[in-house]
Amino acid sequence: MSEQPLIRCRDLTKVYRKGRIEVIPLEKLTLDVPRGEFLALMGPSGSGKTTLLNLISGIDQPTSGGLWVGDQEISRMSRGQLTKWRATECGYIFQLYHLVSILSAYENVELPLLLQKGLSKSARRVKVNAALDLVGLADRADHRPSELSGGQEQRVAIARALVADPKLLVADEPTGDLDRESADQILSLLGELASVHKKTIVMVTHDAKAASAADRTLYLEKGQLVESREVAAL
Ligand SMILES: Nc1ncnc2c1ncn2[C@@H]1O[C@H](COP(=O)(O)OP(=O)(O)OP(=O)(O)O)[C@@H](O)[C@H]1O
Ligand SMILES: [Mg+2]
Repeated sequence: MSEQPLIRCRDLTKVYRKGRIEVIPLEKLTLDVPRGEFLALMGPSGSGKTTLLNLISGIDQPTSGGLWVGDQEISRMSRGQLTKWRATECGYIFQLYHLVSILSAYENVELPLLLQKGLSKSARRVKVNAALDLVGLADRADHRPSELSGGQEQRVAIARALVADPKLLVADEPTGDLDRESADQILSLLGELASVHKKTIVMVTHDAKAASAADRTLYLEKGQLVESREVAAL
């Protein structure tokens, strides 16, 4: 029997209402993401890519439909349960890194661990150093974000997303603000996290070259996911 996918979305619908305006970026969307897959999501601006990442990562909740990550039914959790779940089960990587400017690289990476009760300072140190090592920045631990290049800042952000050892990483245009060389380094790091470290990665991108680093690319079109590039204008 084949292993159950890490992510399962069934008839996932998200409706935003602002006054009399109703937006339905996702409508009865179905998606399976196998464990250890590096999946790229593409689609025009406003097609619902970030909305989908926010649902998968428990930052936002669906209007209807079912969403499971592993054996957890995310779509039925309360906001409080989701916050707790996210702390250990899902790392989020943003286009603009979202590092705290007054903290060092080490302190930024340590932040998610402070949400976990019962981790001693020395246990945290082992994990933070391992995460910085994995992204190749052990020698920049004391640098603040302003003392790092964009590519290095994104690697610190990846270390922060990884430090609690979640199975799932979501990344919203992680190379969107980087030059080609730094972008390629980030993409090969993400590829290694999936192939060697067995992380499941869902990455939104507008860049076809970035998508080609992934195992599979899906396109958001009219609230649904499609496999063929022809039906979705990029
Ligand atoms: N909190 C919100 N309240 C109301 N409408 C929203 C909200 N968030 C997103 N939307 C709307 O939902 C639609 C999808 O937005 P989303 O941010 O998911 O698009 P996207 O595919 O990530 O676009 P981009 O490529 O520009 O980042 C848009 O029409 C947007 O205006
Ligand atoms: Mg977006």
